[in-house]
Amino acid sequence: MAPHSPPDLPPHIAVANHKGGVGKTSTTAGLAAAAAEAGHRVLVVDMDPQGNSTRRLRAALPDNPADRTAVSLAAVLQAPARGEAARIVTPCGWGGIYSEHIDVLPSDLDLELLGLTAGLPSAERRLLRALAGVVDAYALVLIDCPPSLLSHLTDNAWTASDYLLVPCEAEFESVQAARRVAERIDRDRHNLNPDLQIAGIIPTRFRSSLGVHRKRMEDMERISGAEAICPTRFPELAVMKTATEKALPLTECGSQGRDMASLFRDTYAWTRKRISHIQESNA
Ligand SMILES: Nc1ncnc2c1ncn2[C@@H]1O[C@H](COP(=O)(O)OP(=O)(O)OP(=O)(O)O)[C@@H](O)[C@H]1O
Ligand SMILES: [Mg+2]
Repeated sequence: MAPHSPPDLPPHIAVANHKGGVGKTSTTAGLAAAAAEAGHRVLVVDMDPQGNSTRRLRAALPDNPADRTAVSLAAVLQAPARGEAARIVTPCGWGGIYSEHIDVLPSDLDLELLGLTAGLPSAERRLLRALAGVVDAYALVLIDCPPSLLSHLTDNAWTASDYLLVPCEAEFESVQAARRVAERIDRDRHNLNPDLQIAGIIPTRFRSSLGVHRKRMEDMERISGAEAICPTRFPELAVMKTATEKALPLTECGSQGRDMASLFRDTYAWTRKRISHIQESNA
């Protein structure tokens, strides 16, 4: 049985690819902002010990490393009681509608150590357990994943998820990495989550003038079918780096930023439609 039975609970979406730097965290932050702009409450779960979603969404954490760990997933996931994540829910620090609608379960470097206790019974269900009940207040749960595939953190993220979104550059290694994601789901779904599936592949840093990018789009379609490719293709634009550097919402990064924010709104709308479609076909 799926860990979350729609429509009672919000969709839980892991943002993942087995390649670093392809835009997982940018996609997580961009979709969270789009959800907030639509008036939807969203919980961002930062399952990457790099803590990039935590920083980009300006989830305030104590300066002292030990105190920081204590209020992060690193501490909660050691041996969580059901719903224990509630004690570390931290609002997004962007202000306005973003702070009203986006909450973060922050990450910290010590999350890297969770794998040391991966042998404990049901260890891969720790995140799912910690989230129980906490997620009821949200329309969407987004789980930002580290760029790894066979790791305990990925196991926890995927066990807690219904769907995956895979940001992917239209380049050989990125497409190969996305294919490995699909292969791992097929291989290990019985251990992780029997109903887990890729809801969409999101083309990032796309340049339509490059023949190789157009060619790799065809390869991308072969991973989960053409219908799983998000029609929005994110161009490579410096404003994404500005938003990252300054930890600001794209809407506060000039006209290029507002254009990019609009692409995330399109992607959010597409994702919701796609999930409804998948739910209807599974019913
Ligand atoms: N469309 C884009 N155009 C230009 N720069 C981008 C774009 N998307 C992402 N970037 C930049 O690329 C860098 C990596 O992006 P991001 O952190 O989102 O990737 P990631 O997949 O989460 O990386 P990691 O695997 O380390 O977690 C960041 O500096 C980000 O600003
Ligand atoms: Mg990241």
